[in-house]
Amino acid sequence: MNRILSTLARALLLGAALAAGGAHAQTATTPPADDALYQQLGAQPGLVKLVDDFMVRLLADPRMNPFFKDVDQAHVKAELVTQFCEVSGGPCRRKGPDMKQAHAGMDINKNNFNALVEVLQQAMQAQGIAFTTQNKLLAKLAPMHRDIINTP
Ligand code: HEM
Repeated sequence: MNRILSTLARALLLGAALAAGGAHAQTATTPPADDALYQQLGAQPGLVKLVDDFMVRLLADPRMNPFFKDVDQAHVKAELVTQFCEVSGGPCRRKGPDMKQAHAGMDINKNNFNALVEVLQQAMQAQGIAFTTQNKLLAKLAPMHRDIINTP
């Protein structure tokens, strides 16, 4: 929402600058969005493949299976694709529950969190995603541990 508002605000400012007709209009252009990480992840097709494989691996991992065996896989995968797209600078905007709410019904500890990250790393590796790109995505997701880990 903030992003939409700030985009709107920039559009209004640009409009005002253009209406003023001054040379200032040239300096008021909106910079292009930085979607480099999204592109490095293979954009939408890359993210769909990554998340498909991620879910297969989550279900196959004995540490993660108890959490994921009964979930609506199609729904969770779609939410993950949208989330990874958004945090990597792509054009998606996730509207689902925030991370605290989404994980509130489960007891998730630090070890569980680290295990999920490990499985995500394996999935990225299997997709041939460069190590630096892997780390960039993980850096975007890591701060979410504050909302997701909810048990000691
Ligand atoms: C950086 C780490 C994580 C991210 C980015 C993440 C992201 C997400 C997202 C986007 C959803 C979909 C929520 C929705 O819209 O319904 C979800 C659901 C879920 N997450 Fe996570 N998650 C993370 C860590 C974990 C961990 C550590 C566990 C458990 C060990 C976990 C277990 C689940 C389960 C079981 C669901 C499905 C809940 C349901 O549909 O009932 N997640 N997660």
